[in-house]
Amino acid sequence: MLFKQQALLRQKLFVLGSLAIGSLLYLVARVGSLDRLQPICPIDGRFGPHGQDEIPLRALQFKRGLLHEFRKGKASKEQIRLHNLVQQLPKAIIIGVRKGGTRALLEMLNLHPAVVKASQEIHFFDNDENYAKGIEWYRKKMPFSYPHQITIEKSPAYFITEEVPERIYKMNSSIKLLIIVREPTTRAISDYTQVLEGKERKNKTYYKFEKLAIDPNTCEVNTKYKAVRTSIYTKHLERWLKYFPIEQFHIVDGDRLITEPLPELQLVEKFLNLPPRISQYNLYFNATRGFYCLRFNIVFNKCLAGSKGRIHPEVDPSVITKLRKFFHPFNQKFYQITGRTFNWP
Ligand code: A3P
Repeated sequence: MLFKQQALLRQKLFVLGSLAIGSLLYLVARVGSLDRLQPICPIDGRFGPHGQDEIPLRALQFKRGLLHEFRKGKASKEQIRLHNLVQQLPKAIIIGVRKGGTRALLEMLNLHPAVVKASQEIHFFDNDENYAKGIEWYRKKMPFSYPHQITIEKSPAYFITEEVPERIYKMNSSIKLLIIVREPTTRAISDYTQVLEGKERKNKTYYKFEKLAIDPNTCEVNTKYKAVRTSIYTKHLERWLKYFPIEQFHIVDGDRLITEPLPELQLVEKFLNLPPRISQYNLYFNATRGFYCLRFNIVFNKCLAGSKGRIHPEVDPSVITKLRKFFHPFNQKFYQITGRTFNWP
């Protein structure tokens, strides 16, 4: 009798155990597949390939997997054809400003499933040699993407180079143009810091910022110094406005992108007519770096390279005051033209 009861108990335990293991296996498989298949930012039906109603899950998988391989040139022509991938000219360009946060902006926009970034700065429109190679050369520099996705490139030198507005206009007169700006004096110091680091790497000496920014003969701001000239945003923008209406530009606040990136990115999504897909989940503050970093999914996240977010040298406060006073009227004009006001001193 006792033996029979024990056998029955063993049988029950076996069934319960099997059920528990089965459920566990099912859960693991399901979570695993969800993780692989479900986009973090579901793509709007509008952006589905060829207007399908279904969420194009493949798009995101490619974006983080295959597409990456394709970009590295590892895909066969057959694979590219099968997946209907194309190299598209950019629908939007981050034209500047150097040290405004152009890399951070591009990388953050690339979190959007409908955006594909050109990883390298192409320098097609500002470099005569590249420009002479023709538009097909430029297109071939673009990453593979689905036809419904938009390609974005960034080359900050475009903003300050004389010939660029006309050249971009000739390619696409309705292209969207993104300009990311920072408080002009801080940007100039950041620009100087980058050059200084380059000199130090080559064991070269370099002038102090104060010596470059202030003309020693007149004691006035040295407008011949490139880092100063680049920060006179309104002068450069006025050249662009000879070709494009102001509606085709969107100004990003680079200082706010550092401290509070999401609202800035949401404004860009709107400007690019993209459905809002970048969320707080995609951005997390990394205390060690002192900056926001990017989270694509539970396994893949990244911070920008160490060359972004350098420590600036200390600058004589009287020089800073002089520069801020100098930029002030240009800033006012910039606010007036763009319709975006910043709290720059
Ligand atoms: P600093 O090095 O002066 O701090 P660009 O990409 O145009 O060269 O701009 C570089 C600047 O991007 C950096 O300037 C940094 O402040 C800014 N930046 C904005 N968001 C950032 C982020 N999430 N990580 C690192 N740098 C960021």
